[in-house]
Amino acid sequence: MRIIKTVKTLRKRINLLSQSPVGFVPTMGALHEGHLSLVSNAVKQCPAVVVSIYVNPTQFNDKEDLKNYPRTPVEDIGMLLSVMRKDDIVFLPSDKEIYPKMDERIFSFGNLDNVMEALHRPGHFNGVAQVVSRLFDLVKPDIAYFGKKDYQQLAVIRELVCQTDRNITIVGLPTVREQDGLAMSSRNRRLKPEHRKNAAIIYKTLCQAAEMIHEKDVPDVKAFVINSIEACEGFVVEYFEIADDKNLIPVSSRKDMTAESEYRLFIAVKIDQIRLIDNIEIYMTNQKVN
Ligand code: PAJ
Repeated sequence: MRIIKTVKTLRKRINLLSQSPVGFVPTMGALHEGHLSLVSNAVKQCPAVVVSIYVNPTQFNDKEDLKNYPRTPVEDIGMLLSVMRKDDIVFLPSDKEIYPKMDERIFSFGNLDNVMEALHRPGHFNGVAQVVSRLFDLVKPDIAYFGKKDYQQLAVIRELVCQTDRNITIVGLPTVREQDGLAMSSRNRRLKPEHRKNAAIIYKTLCQAAEMIHEKDVPDVKAFVINSIEACEGFVVEYFEIADDKNLIPVSSRKDMTAESEYRLFIAVKIDQIRLIDNIEIYMTNQKVN
């Protein structure tokens, strides 16, 4: 595994790659099994793989969140060593390498800018689009891997690729969870032990809501989710939505849900100053929700 810190060296190595497809996994580090599942899939499918680790300041709308974002480069490299091959690349750039001058590009993603994460984190997806488009231009991947854990981000990336006419296949992979169901996240390690223990309620409640929607209407399901989660001391639901899984438009009543579309449940919960998000698919039969 080659560790590369500069754009100059990265460009040289990328130009030397002779085998395709080139797989790419962008991350912000503090790696866990969720990240590793993306990397393992990339390694399985691509003879050359690049993983980037870069905490992108332009996507943080909250300065404290950026300051407190976990940074564990030594552990990250140890974990990547277990899945990456000799010639795969880990790109660890500094701010100057990614943004030699300020990135002033403004992206628009239509409806995706007006719902859920976009409303609660103004500017967040613009920052994600800035860094991901810069990384795409440097790495020139054929396939890029993203987690469904950040489902709206995945939709934004698909839209970015479409708008900018890039020839990159975007692969979305399932959310990897802790044993108690909590979606793995770099932010989980910042939770106090009692909050970490109670955080299992998020997935548990989503699963109950996915069953409940077959019998109750949307406002009742919303009330149930908010009451169940906010019963835990210190937990505040920022939003809970049932939305079309393609355009991510939330529905306000079961009447708006059509048999032709598929729906997901989306949630953001704030615990102290730590913000966790999750989402699950709604099965129209009684299958298990994952
Ligand atoms: P980060 O939060 O580090 O996540 C990197 C990738 O790992 C994303 O595609 C994310 O969806 C995926 N991921 C995170 N937790 C996961 C889990 N439990 N199961 C499966 N996949 C999971 O997302 C970002 O970084 C940044 O916004 C980035 C795209 C790198 C741009 O800066």
